[in-house]
Amino acid sequence: MCMMNEEEKNRRAAEKWEGAEAMKKESVVKAALLGLGTVGSGVYKLVERQKEQLPAKTGMQLEIAKILVHDMKKERPGVRRELLTDSFEEILKDSDIQIVIEVVGGIEPAKRMIMDALKAGKNVVTANKDLIAAHGRELLNTAEEHHVDLLFEASVAGGIPIINPLKECLAGNEILSVMGIVNGTTNYILTKMTEEGMDFDEALKRAQELGYAEADPTSDIEGHDAGRKVAILASIAFHSKVTFKDVYVEGITRITSRDIAYAEEFGNVIKLLGIARNEGGEIEAAVYPMMLPKDHPLASVRDSFNAVFVQGDAVGDTMFYGRGAGELPTASAVMADVLRILRNIRCGCNGRIGCTCYRNLPMKPIEESQHKYYVRMLVENRPGVLAQITGTLAEQGVSIEKVVQKVFRDNKAEVVIITEKIQERYVKNALDEFRRSPVIYDISNILREY
Ligand code: NAP
Ligand code: HSE
Repeated sequence: MCMMNEEEKNRRAAEKWEGAEAMKKESVVKAALLGLGTVGSGVYKLVERQKEQLPAKTGMQLEIAKILVHDMKKERPGVRRELLTDSFEEILKDSDIQIVIEVVGGIEPAKRMIMDALKAGKNVVTANKDLIAAHGRELLNTAEEHHVDLLFEASVAGGIPIINPLKECLAGNEILSVMGIVNGTTNYILTKMTEEGMDFDEALKRAQELGYAEADPTSDIEGHDAGRKVAILASIAFHSKVTFKDVYVEGITRITSRDIAYAEEFGNVIKLLGIARNEGGEIEAAVYPMMLPKDHPLASVRDSFNAVFVQGDAVGDTMFYGRGAGELPTASAVMADVLRILRNIRCGCNGRIGCTCYRNLPMKPIEESQHKYYVRMLVENRPGVLAQITGTLAEQGVSIEKVVQKVFRDNKAEVVIITEKIQERYVKNALDEFRRSPVIYDISNILREY
């Protein structure tokens, strides 16, 4: 055994300290910020806030050397004007810039700028779920070819660490399922409808005022934003490429106060869930509103909070909870990626973790998924109608767990059926029959139940 004496220990400690001091003075890594909107401003603030601590945390100093914006005339309080540029070429040509942080959003010009940056040997951090969900593999392959990092922690669930936990902390598991509330706007709307009896339009307006919703809220309320996040999560969890186009998506626009009331009556809450499962080697990836029992961990995720519930074969159940959007929460995730890159630069190991999709699993069609179903219908209120409905379900092999019938008005009744667990195609077949029936006036809503 090697016993180090005090003198030797002190000498080594001094060497280490001097080394760190030298590193602090010499190793300044320059970065460029593409975009100075909500997230970009947050990143700028965090870099300023963390400036003193970065050398101790990473052995490197960080300097934001350039900021790309669209409108050079806009007021940018707290930001030095000389950093601003509207020319990406200027950033690309600056060989001192080693990190590019893309927080512009959308597909183009973000894709071209990221591609060019990677090809020029620059490391890239992005919060852009639209881009990663559609072109992630192409971008990651380019990063790999050029031995640089392309990191995107902020692209799913904002400030919640989930990409790196899946890629690194849970790498020793076979991931069985990932299920999450990954859109703050819709969770806020459903919470307000449930707890305050607010109607959909009013709750959406509030979400927009609070800055949760995207500029065009269609992407939030129709489930597209969540669908992009599910594509990214599924690809990483199951090591197989899943794009937004592969994800089955339903939004929350059909949810009414009556569905919320029935959910309450049955001991459930309605949540918009992003779901990715490995079903015997087939991937199920979907977004839809679901009736969730009140005692499920995701049921208590309220307001604009997000949470992701991951089941691994070794770890069991884990849940990641926090702010899925907003200036500083999202910047927190971007900064974590920047720090990762600084550490990689320090040890010369950029490009350490690239694309992790080494499998090519097929997608499972939604018709083959299995759930319990909640069906709410407006029917004629006369003897034999319920028998017709149950008969049609029986013909498709759909067994009923619960039926509630409430007289609505005059000769119309509202019937709510909860089925037992069954493959979706059989419920759809029965619904097609119902649509042809003269005694069923309206199929008001259909929801999957956990
Ligand atoms: P934002 O507020 O709209 O900011 C976009 C920024 O990009 C603005 O500074 C804008 O310049 C600049 N920009 C837009 N088009 C440009 C162009 N063609 N050339 C140069 N600059 C351009 O967007 P954000 O909310 O920060 O979102 C940025 C990214 O983060 C998106 O991918 C989004 O999906 C993702 N994200 C956002 C959140 C969130 O909470 N907001 C959460 C997670 C992920 P001007 O300032 O001159 O207009
Ligand atoms: N509009 C998104 C949400 C935030 O409501 O969660 C950005 O991903």
